[in-house]
Amino acid sequence: MDSTLIRDLQLEDLESLLLIEHVCFPLPRSREMLSGELESADTSIFGVFLAEELLAYCSFLLVLDEMHLLRLCTNPTHRRSGLARTLLRELVARGNVIRAHQILLEVAANNYEAIELYRSFDFKLIGRRAGYYAYEGQDALLYSLFLNNSSN
Ligand SMILES: CC(C)(COP(=O)(O)OP(=O)(O)OC[C@H]1O[C@@H](n2cnc3c(N)ncnc32)[C@H](O)[C@@H]1OP(=O)(O)O)[C@@H](O)C(=O)NCCC(=O)NCCS
Repeated sequence: MDSTLIRDLQLEDLESLLLIEHVCFPLPRSREMLSGELESADTSIFGVFLAEELLAYCSFLLVLDEMHLLRLCTNPTHRRSGLARTLLRELVARGNVIRAHQILLEVAANNYEAIELYRSFDFKLIGRRAGYYAYEGQDALLYSLFLNNSSN
C-alpha cells in the first residue's frame, strides 16, 4: 500500500491503539493495560500508519533473547492487503538487529487466518495448551521461529 509508514507507537497513540484493539479482538485490553504496555521498557509496539491512521499493529515482549509476540492485528477495513505480513517482516528484522534467538507466539487453534500467516513465515508448531482460551473453549497452539542468530 502506498504512503504507509511503519513506526513505534508512543503514549500519544493510545486512542488509536484502543480503537483498533476494539475492532480486532473479542476481548480487547483495557486503556490501563495498553498504556502500561506503551510505557513499559520490556514491551515494544509498532504499527502501520496511513496519514496518521493506525491500520495495523504488532507488539512483543523481549525476554532475554526471546521475542514473545503479544498481538498482531489489522483493522478489518484493511485486511488481506499484506499489512500483517509487513509487520511480521519488520518483527523478524528487529529480532535480527537485536540478535534475538527466536520468536514465540500463541494462537487460538481456530484462528485459521493467523495460522496461515505464521506458517507462511515458517513458524513451527512446538506445543498446544488445552483450553487456554477459556472464553471460547479453544486450545492455544504454540509456534516458534528461530532467527538467523540462532544455532538451532
Ligand atoms: C490475522 C490477521 C492479523 C491477518 O492480517 P492481514 O493484514 O489481513 O494479513 P495479510 O494481508 O498480511 O495476509 C498475509 C497472509 O496471511 C494469511 N491470511 C490472512 N488472512 C487470511 C484469510 N482470511 N484466509 C486465509 N489466509 C489468510 C495468508 O497466508 C496471507 O497471504 P496471502 O494474502 O498472500 O494469501 C488479521 O486477520 C487480524 O487482525 N485478525 C484478528 C486479530 C488476530 O487474530 N491476530 C492474530 C493473533 S494475535
